[in-house]
Amino acid sequence: MATIKIKDLSFKPFINEDELQPLIKKVANQINKEYAGKSPLFLFVKLASYEGTESKGTVNELIGLNESLEGRDVIIVEDIVDTGNTLEKLYQIILDKNPKSLKIATLLYKPEAYKKDFNIDFVAKEIPNNFVVGYGLDYDGFGRNLSSIYVLNQ
Ligand code: IMP
Repeated sequence: MATIKIKDLSFKPFINEDELQPLIKKVANQINKEYAGKSPLFLFVKLASYEGTESKGTVNELIGLNESLEGRDVIIVEDIVDTGNTLEKLYQIILDKNPKSLKIATLLYKPEAYKKDFNIDFVAKEIPNNFVVGYGLDYDGFGRNLSSIYVLNQ
């Protein structure tokens, strides 16, 4: 696989699809085991930030949440956890909706960048603190459709 260019940046192959599949399967098996007999609710949500109208600072709102979370075993599914800022906000919003339990699953996790204390429960792969694209991850709206993951050439 060759180096690719996305907008102004160059990326090189990092993790291919064949490597990702067994890692994802491993996490799925872990979840199946831990939640046997339960019906967890998987949330693939987005956090939108906007400025409040009365200068109360940034307001965060969940996009794509239609179900009630009351009393449910909720698992947040993330593409990547970097600093953990996004996840911390999500966590608070979701806990306010009274789930029975709340855990986090992520495809990728950058331990060197992570600044929070709460536990990331299910991780398919830890990666160094470099910018990656592909397999759903984008650079400024591009590269999301790549079937494997590429890392920034520096
Ligand atoms: P955090 O709040 O710093 O943990 O960042 C989380 C969000 O930033 C992710 O859900 C991604 O949308 C984006 N992000 C962080 N690192 C990367 C990366 O290496 N490639 C693409 N997007 C990233």
